[in-house]
Amino acid sequence: MEPRKYVLLISIVIGCSVATAKTIFVEEDVPSIEEISFMKKYGYLPEKQDDNMDFAYTPHSIAEALKKMQSFAGLSPTGHLDAETRKLFKRRRCGVKDIETKSAAHRRRRYILQQGWGKKAITYRVLNGSSTLERARVETLMAAGLAVWAPHGGLQFEQLDHGKADIQVSFASKDHGDGFPFDGPGHVVAHAFPPPHGAMHFDDDELWGDNPDEEDENITDFFAVAVHEIGHALGMSHSNVKASVMYPYYQVPVEKLHEDDILGMQELYLKEDVHEALLESTEQSVASRSSLAPRPTLADDDNKSNEDNDDDEDDDNDVPDLCYTNYDTVQVIQDKLFVFEEEWVWVLTDRKQIMEGYPKRFHDVFIGLPKHITVIRTIYEKQNGHIVVFSGRSFWEFSARFRLVRRGRLSEYKIPPQVSELTTVFLSNYNNKTYLIEYERFWRFDDATSSMDKGYPKEMSAWRQIPYPVDAAVIWKGDTFFFRGPRFWRFDNTAVRAHHYYPLPTAQIWFPCRATPDMARYVTNDEP
Ligand SMILES: *[C@@H]1O[C@H](CO)[C@@H](O)[C@H](O)[C@H]1NC(C)=O
Ligand SMILES: *[C@@H]1O[C@H](CO)[C@@H](O)[C@H](O)[C@H]1NC(C)=O
Ligand SMILES: *[C@@H]1O[C@H](CO)[C@@H](O)[C@H](O)[C@H]1NC(C)=O
Ligand SMILES: *[C@@H]1O[C@H](CO)[C@@H](O)[C@H](O)[C@H]1NC(C)=O
Ligand SMILES: [Zn+2]
Ligand SMILES: [Zn+2]
Repeated sequence: MEPRKYVLLISIVIGCSVATAKTIFVEEDVPSIEEISFMKKYGYLPEKQDDNMDFAYTPHSIAEALKKMQSFAGLSPTGHLDAETRKLFKRRRCGVKDIETKSAAHRRRRYILQQGWGKKAITYRVLNGSSTLERARVETLMAAGLAVWAPHGGLQFEQLDHGKADIQVSFASKDHGDGFPFDGPGHVVAHAFPPPHGAMHFDDDELWGDNPDEEDENITDFFAVAVHEIGHALGMSHSNVKASVMYPYYQVPVEKLHEDDILGMQELYLKEDVHEALLESTEQSVASRSSLAPRPTLADDDNKSNEDNDDDEDDDNDVPDLCYTNYDTVQVIQDKLFVFEEEWVWVLTDRKQIMEGYPKRFHDVFIGLPKHITVIRTIYEKQNGHIVVFSGRSFWEFSARFRLVRRGRLSEYKIPPQVSELTTVFLSNYNNKTYLIEYERFWRFDDATSSMDKGYPKEMSAWRQIPYPVDAAVIWKGDTFFFRGPRFWRFDNTAVRAHHYYPLPTAQIWFPCRATPDMARYVTNDEP
């Protein structure tokens, strides 16, 4: 298997796009060639797919890439190349890609769930040490780093002294034969490959240390980087949660895993155990409750519909496959579930029941929505039945018959001007208040009085056990659900935390996708 890493592609086309950008950006906002290549390298800008010389990044696509990069790093997503953003290009970090870019040929999930090792006993070997950190010390620190991860996947690690181990650790500099050369001192300090490759490479041009003093800013702490790279070698991807170990930028000290890291490990290594246990205990009950059991659907093999198969002839439309859970957001409007992905919308009358005629392009549904809105990430239904689409600091309000009524500004919701966009908005059925979420915090707005409630914003951590940022929050049949990546949670308003048997996989439960054993968990626990 080809390791999933970045491909460095610099061509003369980049020069052209920068020249084009100059006419629109103010001078200090023009990204340099190095900055453009950074954004491509880490997955924020699409790589060129073919040799089409017309290909160029527009100022809009560069601004969008900057926003993604800023929000991944935990900066406010302005889309402008300010001083703080420029610092990101220089910071020490891991060389692995942050975002797996979609290629037309092969759609991938937004949250990459790479594979694990498919076994619990994993071997490792330290091939050499660095010029500043002897091999014996590297071995000790590796053992400590592996011990941080082991309990969360039920894993055992065994060190080998010779022969090929699953995870091979080495120090190398510049070009070292894997197609991903290191860059000398600073910036990229290490990279690692997911299973079944498993190699961990540390840049030998760094000054590696063992718990260096804070003043020794040029010394990179081996343990902190090793814990992160072990995550990759076990199959973890980067996280935008700053407190997580899988955050791509170097930060010290690393003391323990964050819940986000632990969730990832459970997904990779514990899901199977849960499946097996649950399958045995619940197969019977699934079969006996036919009305709740997974039905054969569009996505089932024996009756393949063309939208389910993206290798097929439908390239002209290129409708995404909902079963890959790559949607931008979901919302309940007029008691139906609307699912948005790219320029498409699906309407579901009930779980798994796609309304006839869908998906449609959302521009054909939301009449009057400006064409420059190419993706819907935030939408909600107001209490008066109007539907509001947010984009940047603006919103567009539609009648219940999906005709544009007016355009407004976020300031009408009393959202402070520093907030450049909202990520999720929903109307709670509990108190009839509108919750406006921006990544890690939220406000509560009273539409009846057009006023912001006191004491806001609050941290998203108030929704206990719900990881954030969330992609969507909906009220469905009286319950509050949060969606993030391929999973969703049901919030228990009484216990004020997520129900303990969540998260569950979104595609298999909400969309007509092939059933997995997780559904059994859903059927047996979540009575309608
Ligand atoms: C460490 O081992 C790797 C792999 O064999 C090799 O490429 C690299 O040059 C070695 N580094 C040092 C500093 O000896
Ligand atoms: C760190 O490295 C930079 C560039 O090599 C050098 O200018 C600086 O003095 C070094 N800092 C320390 C504390 O050694
Ligand atoms: C398979 O799809 C066709 C139309 O595409 C439909 O007429 C037929 O009833 C479907 N069969 C099953 C078993 O769902
Ligand atoms: C919320 O609004 C609905 C419809 O207007 C109303 O029936 C309900 O009583 C309200 N709930 C609260 C808590 O005010
Ligand atoms: Zn990394
Ligand atoms: Zn390498």
